[in-house]
Amino acid sequence: MAVGKSPVKANMTNIPVYKPFLFGNETKYVMNCLDSTWISSQGKYIDEFEQKFAEYIGVKYATTVVNGTMALHLSLVALGVGPGDEVIVPTLTYVASANAITYTGAVPVFADSLENTWQIDPEDVRRKITSKTRGIIAVHLYGHPAEMDLLEALAREYNLFLIEDCAEAVGTRYKARHVGGFGNISTFSFYGNKTITSGEGGMVATNDPILYEKAVRLKGQGAVKKRHYYHDRIGYNYQMTNICAAIGLAQLEQIHEILQKKRHIARQYQEVLQGLPLQFHDEVGDVFHSYWMCSILTSDPAQRDLLRHFLANDNIETRPVFYPVHTMPMYLQKSGCFAVAENISSRGINLPSWPGLEKSDVEFIGTCIRQFIQSRA
Ligand SMILES: Cc1ncc(COP(=O)(O)O)c(C=O)c1O
Repeated sequence: MAVGKSPVKANMTNIPVYKPFLFGNETKYVMNCLDSTWISSQGKYIDEFEQKFAEYIGVKYATTVVNGTMALHLSLVALGVGPGDEVIVPTLTYVASANAITYTGAVPVFADSLENTWQIDPEDVRRKITSKTRGIIAVHLYGHPAEMDLLEALAREYNLFLIEDCAEAVGTRYKARHVGGFGNISTFSFYGNKTITSGEGGMVATNDPILYEKAVRLKGQGAVKKRHYYHDRIGYNYQMTNICAAIGLAQLEQIHEILQKKRHIARQYQEVLQGLPLQFHDEVGDVFHSYWMCSILTSDPAQRDLLRHFLANDNIETRPVFYPVHTMPMYLQKSGCFAVAENISSRGINLPSWPGLEKSDVEFIGTCIRQFIQSRA
């Protein structure tokens, strides 16, 4: 694709879209795992990471798992979801939110998004409820919370479960409460590009002791407590290693600093992009956006890929906003109206937003975007 050459002086350093912030106790704790030989799925870091994470998000129970996708699968299985069931999920999400439903034999039913927050549209959820609907997965997309009051009310009205997919939302708050404690159960991801990482990893969190107990049993092959090698159900091996938990704990210790840096970067973007015909994915309502990603919408879908190529020419890495899941071959739906999700997806770009990003990098990215827009005016 032909792209104009950037008139600004090329920044020779690559600016990646994401890079983990590993400046705390990560090395010390990992070395401790190696020195002590506690490298597998038992050890003090697992217990401490679970306990501190539960405290941080304000829920009673949290259990570590191997990644965010398996956290969702485990939650659905713990809730008894299976063939013949339907689960409503936003189409504008990472594909794992829908895949986890499919793994259980249930059917993901897609809902459109809200224009202002990009989150699942509660009115569309209501329209999609049938006699087969068992529950809703609310995804807090890109770190902005979903409309939890309305989703909780819908779940109560129709006797549905509510799962929060918080993979992208550690640090996010809705009306001053951390996400992850609103629904029946919630899930987190600690992949390397997440706000805090454990390399690969995830967490299942809940206030419900029965669901917690089921999740713990299922992630460990369905083993019965206090009776070695006896299993009373078909479980999985979804356990996190002590090494991953060591990294996760060290990351959790720095979460306030990481969030502060990420919110600061978001404000800097808003300043440098001021006055341009772009929409920034900003906070709407009484919420605390953790800005997992700093995302913008171009005014015209035709400009989106051109701008991404223009930035790539200056070594600035970006990502498109997710493609709606209903447009992918496994889930293709030609009928149905997902106009808002499709529109956001066609215009959206995720800009670099890792915590170590310098002010000069943000200014450089802002200048490049401004130059691109001016060159096309
Ligand atoms: C919304 C959402 N759900 C689930 C996942 C899956 O998490 P993981 O990659 O740790 O399996 C992700 C990961 O990026 C995600 O963004």
